Amino acid sequence: MVKHDVKDLGLAKKGKLRIEWAAQEMPVLKSITERFSKEKPLKGIKVVACLHVTTETASLMETLKAGGADVALCASNPLSTQDDAAASLVKNSGISVFAIKGEDTKTYYRHIKDALSLGPQITMDDGADVVSTLHKEEKDLLRNVIGGTEETTTGVIRLKAMAADGALQYPIIAVNDAFTKHLFDNRYGTGQSTMDGIIRATNRLIAGSVFVVCGYGWCGRGVAMRAKGMGARVIVTEIDPLKALEATMDGFEMMPIKEAAKIGDIFVTATGDINVISKDCFPVMKDGAIVCNTGHFNVEIDIESLQKMSKAKRMIRDFVEEFTLKSGKRIYLLGEGRLINLAAAEGHPSAVMDMSFANQALCAEFMVKNAKKLEKTVYSVPEKIDKEIARLKLKAMGIKIDTLTPEQKKYLQSWEMGT
Ligand code: ADE
Repeated sequence: MVKHDVKDLGLAKKGKLRIEWAAQEMPVLKSITERFSKEKPLKGIKVVACLHVTTETASLMETLKAGGADVALCASNPLSTQDDAAASLVKNSGISVFAIKGEDTKTYYRHIKDALSLGPQITMDDGADVVSTLHKEEKDLLRNVIGGTEETTTGVIRLKAMAADGALQYPIIAVNDAFTKHLFDNRYGTGQSTMDGIIRATNRLIAGSVFVVCGYGWCGRGVAMRAKGMGARVIVTEIDPLKALEATMDGFEMMPIKEAAKIGDIFVTATGDINVISKDCFPVMKDGAIVCNTGHFNVEIDIESLQKMSKAKRMIRDFVEEFTLKSGKRIYLLGEGRLINLAAAEGHPSAVMDMSFANQALCAEFMVKNAKKLEKTVYSVPEKIDKEIARLKLKAMGIKIDTLTPEQKKYLQSWEMGT
């Protein structure tokens, strides 16, 4: 048996079936897997992946293995692991996994180090915790690393800060910045899975509720759109004037969080920043207000202050913690303030992860071929890869599109012709 630390290998059978179900919606990744099996572009390459351990991630791990890679996987969040998928990867696919849903912070970082003991040549991150651990605590291992990829907005921000500081020691491709990633995964994936997480956790009616979305990036846009579609009165909060204008013209109410705090029934943070729902918000909230986060880290809600200003707390149902303030008012925190879509639901649907993980697989291949030519900085996904994934996805969906005629091509390349 490969090295592992998972909850229960007895869950492998259930995991295998769920992985098979998810894979049915991942045709792009499937076609890449078929090519990788023949061409072995990752032959002998050691890949350490720190991703949400889900049925979709399981398919990506199989793709990398089919390409010839030696893979170790750890979780990119303590609460997002699907224990059955983790068990199946170990038992049925022979892939090292170190991840248990609900692990504490110490175990979370131990698992990252367990995965890193493989001695990676490529890292695959979702939130940059592997890159950060390598640079801070496992510097000896940096020697072998040729490059890496990063899945999410928060990770890309961290890595760009590292590059700007001159701290980053190898090139990274920002998978998040591909159009076939953020336009679909961040918007439609987060939109649907966040609503799914809130509903599974609370079973509350969305229609008629006052629903506050903090942040109007691609994730916030997706959540606001879906909440509106379910009949909520949606309020958006922003710090960026352009995004605030966009949200306003998309038909959402816009106001500062301190105002929204007084009227919201359900609050979702999707900003990537710290203390967005701050200690000043809780005392003015309505009794029974629900707060949750769908951003990468559990820093967006000031949970520490909420604890301090509460006289009692209890779990009222799975993923729902009731805080009673000294005034007697009750505030409900979902999923410990961690990404609610992965904590209380199953993360993004497979059909969007298909494109995100196709980017991961093709960027790993690109890195093996091109790492020597790259600098120690953060790169965008090559346009060729992005377009190819869109083409493959359309083909799998049976959607045909037009092509430019020679006359149209010529027109676009010329400047002489006006009215
Ligand atoms: N991030 C969001 N949803 C995910 C999923 N289903 N699998 C892996 N990473 C994710």
